[in-house]
Amino acid sequence: MSFSDELLDWYSTHKRDLPWRHNATAYQVLVSEIMLQQTQVSRVIDKYKEFLTLFPTLSDLALASKAEVIQAWSGLGYNRRALLLQKFAVEVMNKYDGEIPRVREALLKLSGMGPYTTGAVLSFAFNLEEPAIDVNVRRIFLRYFEGKDQGEPLDRSGEKKLFDLAAREIPVGKSSVFHNALMDFGSLVCMRKEPLCSLCPLHQSCRFFPLYEVGKKEVLQVREKKKEQGVNENGKFIPNRIFRGRIVEWVRKNERKKVRIEELGLAVKKDYTSVDEEWLLKLCMKLEKEGLFKMRKNNESKPESMRDKEVLDFSLG
Ligand code: ADE
Repeated sequence: MSFSDELLDWYSTHKRDLPWRHNATAYQVLVSEIMLQQTQVSRVIDKYKEFLTLFPTLSDLALASKAEVIQAWSGLGYNRRALLLQKFAVEVMNKYDGEIPRVREALLKLSGMGPYTTGAVLSFAFNLEEPAIDVNVRRIFLRYFEGKDQGEPLDRSGEKKLFDLAAREIPVGKSSVFHNALMDFGSLVCMRKEPLCSLCPLHQSCRFFPLYEVGKKEVLQVREKKKEQGVNENGKFIPNRIFRGRIVEWVRKNERKKVRIEELGLAVKKDYTSVDEEWLLKLCMKLEKEGLFKMRKNNESKPESMRDKEVLDFSLG
């Protein structure tokens, strides 16, 4: 049996029942894919349903305010994703009359769309034979066909080779189911850290399996995850990602309130002191640059010698 036949056979008995797999429209697929970036499936399921209740169509999302979108996203983190998704919706309304394009080049030009997300919309939603290569799919292909674990990033020609290989393997007319099968296979069998090779229905033809059998852990190229940036709060390390979420949540609830920096500081970090001021301002400036809110420093008009403490004024715009 070919790779795709074996995989689809495995999928027919092991598939996960996920809400975005029930006749999802392109808009619904996109919502799920953006939520699933850096976020586990189990954390996405309820949020996905809630979000679609609030914004059932692309046009509802395009017309919503930033504050509504951020509110609907709360709990998922990485709020920037939500704003890019909304920007995408506005662009599709304006440029394509609300119809999400079915062409890779057109999709890639829209906000928030990278090669994987583009492939995911084309394959999951439109069933087109277009590869959607995320870290899991990449790992499966490199192991099975090349006998390599993911290791170092590939150069351009390596990427092209992988893309062409993935494209050749998609069974005609079954792109959506094939990609769903890859997703599940990557999280249930061909995992990053402890792949279940002995239970894998594809192991006899897999180029990685013999190497793994002999070398076990040594052949796994498990790279340490990049260490997240962050600071201690009451002695416990908290990633900046969490503080960023707290800042956005605070701004959503306290819009147009003028505050001194330490008031915001104490609201988002339990043991805030003036030592944290530079760190906090940097986080705020980065969020502002990403378009999450606008921040006015009220003292900017005064000469420096006359300035009291920094007074900030936030708006979601
Ligand atoms: N991760 C990213 N996309 C996914 C999908 N469609 N199903 C399950 N996990 C995913």
